Amino acid sequence: MLNSSDSFAQDILQGLSQNPRRLSSTYFYDDLGSALFSEIMNLPEYYLSRSEYEILSQQTDAIFQWLPSGQRLELMELGAGDGTKTLALLNYLMQKGIDFRYIPIDISSAALEKLSSYIHEQLPAAPVFPQTGNYFELLGKQKSSDQPRLILFLGSNIGNFSHQQAISFIRQIKDTMQSHDRLLVGFDLVKHPKMIREAYNDSSGLTKAFNLNLLKRINQEFNGDFDLLQFDHYESYDPELSEARSYLISLKPQIVTLRDLQFSVKFETWDYIHVEVSRKYKPSTLQQLAAQSGFEIETALYDCKHYFTDQLWKPIA
Ligand code: AVI
Repeated sequence: MLNSSDSFAQDILQGLSQNPRRLSSTYFYDDLGSALFSEIMNLPEYYLSRSEYEILSQQTDAIFQWLPSGQRLELMELGAGDGTKTLALLNYLMQKGIDFRYIPIDISSAALEKLSSYIHEQLPAAPVFPQTGNYFELLGKQKSSDQPRLILFLGSNIGNFSHQQAISFIRQIKDTMQSHDRLLVGFDLVKHPKMIREAYNDSSGLTKAFNLNLLKRINQEFNGDFDLLQFDHYESYDPELSEARSYLISLKPQIVTLRDLQFSVKFETWDYIHVEVSRKYKPSTLQQLAAQSGFEIETALYDCKHYFTDQLWKPIA
């Protein structure tokens, strides 16, 4: 029987056997990885979270303008996050007396529990109904609901997909939507390449620890012997592709063995593993992405520095 650790194992075996070597950033988020990411969000160099928070807390009126009055809103969030940004939206809805249910969806029940207790602490009266499982199955279950739904996919999580993956992901969301529903997506915008690179190459070394934690996780889960001191973090930003890319670089010739998988992989000095892509967008690219995924952009909101955009997308019939 296949479980999530089997698919992790298969992805590792395949990713470390191919050229160039790859591991998926979806595996960054074990408990330590999630904690490190929460710290990254507060780094001075990581402008993304601050910029998005500014939009969600200062332009909240514009986000909910489409909402028909007198109906209960189903606010569904894909990926639990740490709740800080969502709290701005929940606060607004409560202050305005808008009837709503907040339904965060995640595959990790631990992440959902943490989020729910944070929201409960901050806003005890907020109606939170966490759901554990697959995004599309859970969205699909509510498809025929009479209540308008706002689906949140924040934090530039979409940027960790390739262009094609992003289109197919958004199309799958669209398949679960009705014309009275909306999708609110957060995108990081193109800007000076140096600034983007620094966001992923912070001076405190937190992002390095976040990336290396993937090797630590593999060691723990598959009885491996990756020597974390013999791999370094390297970040590139390619303005031609608008992609930040994270690599782990082998600092010496070495053979790494994952005993539980009966698998060894040989690295020469400067061999690399590609572990993450973080895509940046131009407003014109977003017009195309929306059209290719079956949406039109209803509202595009920007922070005052135009580093980030949160966009309300309406499904095209
Ligand atoms: C979760 N995701 C949008 C982050 C990003 O910006 O790509 C993950 C991250 N990787 C390094 N720092 C933050």
